Amino acid sequence: MRLSHLAYGGDYNPEQWPEAVWEEDVRLMQEAGVNLVSLGIFAWAKLEPRPGEYDFAWLDRVMELLHAGGIAVDLATATASPPPWLSHQYPESLPVTADGVQLWPGGRQHYCPSSTAYRAAAQRLVRKLAERYRDHPALVLWHIGNEYACHVSECFCDESARAFRNWLKKRYGSLDALNAAWGTAFWSQQYSDWEEILPPRKAPTYPNPGQQLDWRRFSSDALLECFDLERSILREITPAIPATTNFLTNFKPLNCWTWAAHEDIVSLDSYPDPADPLAHIDAALNYDLARSLKGGQSWLLMEQAPSQVNWRAQNLVKRPGQMRLWSHQAVARGAEGVLFFQWRASRAGVEKFHSGMVPHAGAGSRTWREVVALGRELRKIDAVLSTQVQADVAILIDWESWWALELDSKPSQAVRLLDQVRSYYEPLYRRNITVDFVAPDADLSSYRLALVPNLYLVRDQTARTLEHFVTSGGIVVMSFFSGIVNEFEHIRLGGYPAPFCNLLGLRITEFAPYALDQQNVIITDAGQHFPCTLWSDVIDLEGAEALAQYGDDWYANRPALTRHRVGRGEAYYLGTRPNEAGMDWLLNRACQAASVEPAAIVPTGVEAVLRQTADTRLLYLLNHGATAATIALGAPCTDLLTDRRHIDSLTLESQAVAVLSS
Ligand code: GAL
Repeated sequence: MRLSHLAYGGDYNPEQWPEAVWEEDVRLMQEAGVNLVSLGIFAWAKLEPRPGEYDFAWLDRVMELLHAGGIAVDLATATASPPPWLSHQYPESLPVTADGVQLWPGGRQHYCPSSTAYRAAAQRLVRKLAERYRDHPALVLWHIGNEYACHVSECFCDESARAFRNWLKKRYGSLDALNAAWGTAFWSQQYSDWEEILPPRKAPTYPNPGQQLDWRRFSSDALLECFDLERSILREITPAIPATTNFLTNFKPLNCWTWAAHEDIVSLDSYPDPADPLAHIDAALNYDLARSLKGGQSWLLMEQAPSQVNWRAQNLVKRPGQMRLWSHQAVARGAEGVLFFQWRASRAGVEKFHSGMVPHAGAGSRTWREVVALGRELRKIDAVLSTQVQADVAILIDWESWWALELDSKPSQAVRLLDQVRSYYEPLYRRNITVDFVAPDADLSSYRLALVPNLYLVRDQTARTLEHFVTSGGIVVMSFFSGIVNEFEHIRLGGYPAPFCNLLGLRITEFAPYALDQQNVIITDAGQHFPCTLWSDVIDLEGAEALAQYGDDWYANRPALTRHRVGRGEAYYLGTRPNEAGMDWLLNRACQAASVEPAAIVPTGVEAVLRQTADTRLLYLLNHGATAATIALGAPCTDLLTDRRHIDSLTLESQAVAVLSS
C-alpha cells in the first residue's frame, strides 16, 4: 500500500447516511488522523439497484471527498451481501444447510459459494468497479468480499453437489481412486457412478469421514474460487493495486495457509471480549498467526470494535484505555495498521448498538476522544513500519489436520485443536517468548524449537521435515494423538504415531482417553507432580528416555513425557495433557534446551514484544495487569509515545503502553 504512516481508519458505509453527513465525516476523519477507510463493503444494492443497472455517481462523490481530504481507500468489491434482486431472480443462488433447509435473504452472505448466478453477478460488478476506479488516486487496496465463510461456510444444494463432484474428479481422476481414498468398502458405500456422490448431507448416522474431510477441503476451495474470480479481474485491470480479504480469528472453515498465498496482504478482524480477562492472550495468538500467514510480512488489523459489539449476549464496553492497549498489541505483533468496524455507528439495522469511531453521541464522547488520541499517537511510531517481529519458536498448525481431528467418531470428542494449541501458546506468552505459526511443510531452518500440538493427520513430507529439523539441531515437542492418519484419514499402521516412531524413539500400542472428570498425575524426573487430564498414551520406549511418568491407574510408572536425542537435536513427546503449571515446566525445559530467550524479563501481566531490523530495536511493553508494573531496563531507552528517556527502569500504569527505542 502507498501509505506513509501506519494505517488508521475503519469501515466506512456512507450509503447509510445523507450526503450532508459525508463532509462532516471527512472533517472528523482528518481530526482523528484517519488515513485509510474500507469503503462500500455492503453497498452492492446501492451500486446496482436493479440487475445490470449501475449507479456509481454517489461513490464517485465519496471517493472525491475522501481523496480531497487526504484519505486513502481500501475499496470493497461489495460482493459479500447480494441485493434482494439476485435471489429473487435466481432462487437457486441461496444456500442450503446439511438438513436441506434453504437460508433466505434478509440478513447477509446469503449465497451459495458454487452458485453460477452469484459468481457471474459478482464478477460483473467487480469489473465495473475496477474499470471505473482503476486510475483513482485514492485507491490503494482492494477489499475482496468480506469475512468469507463467516455465516455460510458450506452449501449442500444440488449446484454445490455438482461442483463437489467436479472437484473430486480433478482430485482422484477415477472412481476407483475415490472409493479407495474414502474407504467405501466399509458399510457398503462403494460408488459405481459419479452422479451417486453427494455432499455429506444429514444422514442417519456418521457420514463417511473421507467424504467429510474432502467436503471441508472443497468448501474452503469453493469460496477461494469466488475470491480468485474477483482477484483475477482486479489483477487484469489494476495490476499495481494489492488485494486482501479479512479473515476471522480462530477460524476453522478456511484453510488460511492456502488462502493467504492468494492475497497480497493478510488482514484480520479481531473482537476480543472485554468480559474475558484473558482475551488479550487469544488476541496475541491470532495476531501471531496473521503475521505468520505470509511468512512474517506485516498485516492489517482490518476490524476491531472501538468499544462494544452488538452480537454477544451481553456486550461490554472497552474500559478507558483498553481500546488503545489492544490496538497497540496488534502493532506490537506485526500489524501495519489499525482499523475499526465501523467509522460511524449506524442508526438503523441490526448493528445499531455496535460501537463506532463516531458514536451516536458524536464527537462529545469518550470513545471519540480515545479514537482521536490513538490516531495522533500512532503517527509517533512510524518507525515500527520498517521493523519485523522475529521468533525462535514455531507452532505447527495444519487446517486439514484440524478438520480431520474434529470430525465425529474419535476416541475423545474433547480433544480440540485450538485448546491444545493454546495449552502451548499461553505459557510461552506469559514468558514473553514470541512464537510464529508454520504450515506443515514450512522450512523450519530459522527456528530453534518447533511445537507440534496434536498433528493428527500427517503427510510423509511433514514427517521428513520434522526429522530433518531435529537431526540438524532443532528441538521438537509433540503431543499425543499425532501422526495417526494419512491425508485420506486412513490409519497409519504399525503402532502409533507410525511416521514419528523413529524420531521419537517410542511406540504406542494403546491410548486411553479420559472421562471428562477423570484426572491422573505425572511425576517428573525431578519429583514434581502435575495433574493431567484428557488422555494417556501407553508408551513403550524404543530409544527415548522418560522425563515424567504417570502416577496412577493401570499404566502408573509408564512414561508420560519422553525425550529422544537424534542427530544434533532432541524430540520430546507428551502423552497427556498436564495442567498449565505442567505445560509451563515442560516448555521452559524445551526453551532452555533450545536456548530460546524471552523478548524481555518483565513483571507478570506485562506483554513484551520486540520489533527489529539489523540496526533498530523497538521493545513494545503492554501492561494488561490491574496494577502498575515497574520494568528494569538493561540500557537507557526513549519511549517513542511520550518522548521520555528512561535510564534504569520504567513504571507502566495498568493498561499503559510503551514503545522503547534503545
Ligand atoms: C464483522 C463484519 C462487520 C461487522 C462486524 C461487527 O464480522 O465483518 O461487517 O458485522 O463484524 O462486529
